[in-house]
Amino acid sequence: MQVLNFGSLNIDHVYTVSHFVAPGETLASSGYQVNAGGKGLNQSVALSRAGVRTLHAGMIGKDGLFLKETLEAAGVNTDHVMIGEHPTGHAMIQVEKSSGQNAILLYPGANVEIKASDMRRILHSMPQGSWLLLQNEINAVPFLIEEGKACGLKIAVNPAPCTEAVRTWPLHLCDLILVNEIEAAQLTDMPADGDFRRMAEAMAERCPDSEVVITLGSRGALCRSGKEEIMVPARPVKVADTTSAGDTFTGYFLAAKLRGMDTETAMRCAVFASSITVSRPGAAGSIPSADEVFRNPDFFNQEKGKYHA
Ligand code: ATP
Ligand code: RIB
Repeated sequence: MQVLNFGSLNIDHVYTVSHFVAPGETLASSGYQVNAGGKGLNQSVALSRAGVRTLHAGMIGKDGLFLKETLEAAGVNTDHVMIGEHPTGHAMIQVEKSSGQNAILLYPGANVEIKASDMRRILHSMPQGSWLLLQNEINAVPFLIEEGKACGLKIAVNPAPCTEAVRTWPLHLCDLILVNEIEAAQLTDMPADGDFRRMAEAMAERCPDSEVVITLGSRGALCRSGKEEIMVPARPVKVADTTSAGDTFTGYFLAAKLRGMDTETAMRCAVFASSITVSRPGAAGSIPSADEVFRNPDFFNQEKGKYHA
């Protein structure tokens, strides 16, 4: 089983700060790093590290060649990473030193310059029954969902960052939808601090053929499939940087399902993997390897041959 991830590739400029900069304020950061990132790239790295054959499609500029190399080093096929005339997308990420929380400013750049003809060509090159994974950092995602469906692909979507436009996406065509609590609230017209179970129920009503996962940060994650609900609490860890927690969850959840695990085990796997990600700094670089998850005695009991955590 293979996954085509049509998604963003960003150069992440990461600043360590005492607090997020306020309007009118000038703040000196205590650390600065340039990392490979983008929700697309991070999710491809997670999928591949979790042991699934992954092809990444997307667009960078000539300034972003190291992103392609990062994907290749993680074992991702980059035949469909195109190099265009526009500068590579980038993110300015403030990471608050005390909490590990982040605030992100995006410049989409080349990520939103992908031609429909290239999208069609790449989708049609995939065997029927393969998975297509999408986020909301490239152009024409609704087109990719519809065309992917017409090509016989199974579709997983993480509509992040969530914008007004996502409300009009054909989400009912997707087999798997993964959102965080804020995105779920936006898509269901509920308050962000509302009942996440009702949000999941509302999303499942709107998309009856989809499995819906809502990630809840330090509280874990909830999966709703039809009327069935599975809640898995987060694994408590000391948080260094939450960047790409959601991306790790998405990659590991999909990978675990494709590796034949049931939904509850896949949820536990994704919760476990993302707890490792938040415990260390960075985006793609903080995503654990398959061995760190599947061979970790906290997750897999070697003697009993059972997954727990
Ligand atoms: P991000 O945008 O920072 O990548 P997100 O908002 O998409 O993340 P979250 O719901 O914050 O997604 O986190 C995804 C998963 O990561 C959670 O479901 C949880 O399993 C894990 N996680 C997040 N924060 C923590 C934490 N503080 N401690 C342990 N696990 C965490
Ligand atoms: O989800 C984390 C990612 O969001 C970062 O790597 C940044 O590039 C933004 O796209």
